[in-house]
Amino acid sequence: MPQNVFVGTVARDYDALESTLSRPAPVDSAVAFLAEVAGGGAALEFAIGTGRIALPLHAAGVAVHGIEISADMVDELRRKPGGGEGRIPVAVGDMATTRVAGEFALVYLVYNTIQNLLEQDEQVACFRNAAAHLAPGGCFVVESGVPSVRRLPPGTSAVPFDVSARHLGFDTYELARQRLTSHHYFTDEDGTTTYSATQHRFVWPAELDLMARLAGLELRERWSNWERDPFTDDSESHVSVWTKPPA
Ligand SMILES: C[S@@+](CC[C@H](N)C(=O)[O-])C[C@H]1O[C@@H](n2cnc3c(N)ncnc32)[C@H](O)[C@@H]1O
Repeated sequence: MPQNVFVGTVARDYDALESTLSRPAPVDSAVAFLAEVAGGGAALEFAIGTGRIALPLHAAGVAVHGIEISADMVDELRRKPGGGEGRIPVAVGDMATTRVAGEFALVYLVYNTIQNLLEQDEQVACFRNAAAHLAPGGCFVVESGVPSVRRLPPGTSAVPFDVSARHLGFDTYELARQRLTSHHYFTDEDGTTTYSATQHRFVWPAELDLMARLAGLELRERWSNWERDPFTDDSESHVSVWTKPPA
């Protein structure tokens, strides 16, 4: 059963809390990358959320559809300029199983969200679902973190990823189960601190490549980030592009 945790105040505060991160996730370079891969065709965002990427991608001239498990996140998208249903159609459902009409030049899943699927079978199903929505020659793009297990000395399970005045974020790893919990402490301007946590199945690029092969997709390129820096031993994230072979 997929988890649905971006609801209520988590959905309402999502955009505001994103802006307190000391290293906000890049938007412009992601949009430029995705628009180029779409090549004038239509795009489908898995886990579209509040439209952080979908809205500027649509503004850049790409027709964008979405699948999103949280109706509350879609409500936030709908409240934004350009976020109307007529512009960005969204199906509320699980990205591993929900089908929408049409064929797409691009399916994309960003911001570590492949790891929100907690079972290997669900991640495999997500790749199969992406492939099913792609036109021949189309691409599935995933942006995700590389598991930080090299930063775990024996006996340690926590890795900080953001330490700033307004936000303390750290992951705790369960290596045998291939799971991690991301913990967030956000501090308001009035000093009030709120805590939230999300569960993830961390996954290496090599395992994703195998999932892509199971879904009939082939690796086309892998970068360290949206700026196309090379993917190396020290990369903390990756942007991977798999393609559906031409018919
Ligand atoms: C970190 S947010 C990313 C949202 C958006 N893609 C962005 O980049 O801002 C993760 C999103 O994934 C959604 N999500 C998690 N599991 C999902 C699933 N199985 N199917 C569809 N959406 C899912 C959550 O509801 C949430 O909106």
